Amino acid sequence: MNALDKTLPLIKAFIEKFDRPPIMGVRAPGRVNLIGEHTDYNMGFVFPAAIEKEIRIVASPISAPELRIYSMNFDESVTVPLTDIRPSKDKSWSNYIAGVADELIKSGYNPGGCEMLVWGDIPIGSGLSSSAAMEVAAACLFRRLFNLSDISDRSLALLAQKAENNFVGVNCGIMDQFISMMGWDNHALLIDCRTLNAMLVPMPRRGEISIVICDSNIRRKLTGSEYNRRRLECEEGLNLLKKQFPTITALRDVLPGMWEEVEHTIPDPIRKRCRHVIYENQRALDGAEALENNDLEFFGELMKLSHISLRDDFEVSCPELDCLVRAAWGVEECCGSRLTGAGFGGCTVSIVKNEGIEKFKKRLTENYVKEFSIEPNFIVSQAASGASLLRIPSAIPAF
Ligand code: GLA
Repeated sequence: MNALDKTLPLIKAFIEKFDRPPIMGVRAPGRVNLIGEHTDYNMGFVFPAAIEKEIRIVASPISAPELRIYSMNFDESVTVPLTDIRPSKDKSWSNYIAGVADELIKSGYNPGGCEMLVWGDIPIGSGLSSSAAMEVAAACLFRRLFNLSDISDRSLALLAQKAENNFVGVNCGIMDQFISMMGWDNHALLIDCRTLNAMLVPMPRRGEISIVICDSNIRRKLTGSEYNRRRLECEEGLNLLKKQFPTITALRDVLPGMWEEVEHTIPDPIRKRCRHVIYENQRALDGAEALENNDLEFFGELMKLSHISLRDDFEVSCPELDCLVRAAWGVEECCGSRLTGAGFGGCTVSIVKNEGIEKFKKRLTENYVKEFSIEPNFIVSQAASGASLLRIPSAIPAF
């Protein structure tokens, strides 16, 4: 299917809804994190890739100062007055767009009104960053539609993160919005979450391996819950460690050698949380180097260590994810597997040789159904490109 084939149904639905064609369209992808979990808000390193699942928005400006948003997935409409933007309780999907408009206004910009149609194929709430993709798509759309071209991609990703922090109320780090904006076809991105410098690393063995995402279908509740608690625990750890290392400003500054000297002085569970972050940070760096060197075996080992650390030290796994990962580790064609994203449910990520994908799916499904009577879902993807404009044909074909 070419890109336009995917856009035409959205244009058609837009015309049906708003009685005229859209003039602009954007897409922003979801993401999978290959390694480097819960390190972003500790100013450390992450190593995600954008995936071939995305949010698309098509839109046209209007003179009224309001956003008229229609979600094709929910078949619901919301009108957001730009002069009085408030979070919606019952149509929470719209908050990711309204929140971006709100942040733009707070930053001194002046987005105008528009009619928008939103569509996506990223499973919602599964930890593949459908919310970040929606924020990034909205941010790119507003930038283009209202000539805010002085905002760089980097600043726009930060603004989208602020929308999630301030408007949606999830105190997330920068990883999801950054990769959705900056992803690159067939590459993963090593991001330094302190400086926001990033390095593209080609996915090895093009055409021979795939990223296989397995959705446990266990939905996690991020807002205000365990995620925010883990952040606080990391801050507590940082404050304790500052007593011994006064110059550090984030857990990222504590290298494994430094940690080993003082680990015994930190009480549990803070000790375990810090230990995860400090070694995971190193694993993200080592992982990027391993992929760059085509060393999938070492990369797989690092993924396994990452999962064990998330399970035992950071305590964000769950029996369902552990079952899927254990099954994956037993498949010969699987190079590595771990939980991905915040945890508490959601998805696992595995690197699998293409010839073994069917066997992999079968094995995970059998084990999972046997243990939990739940069918998992799979997404097989290559690393995809970050947000981009959609081609909207000036002459719309007759439908
Ligand atoms: C969520 C957050 C990210 C990151 C991951 C854990 O996806 O949105 O910022 O903290 O969890 O690595």
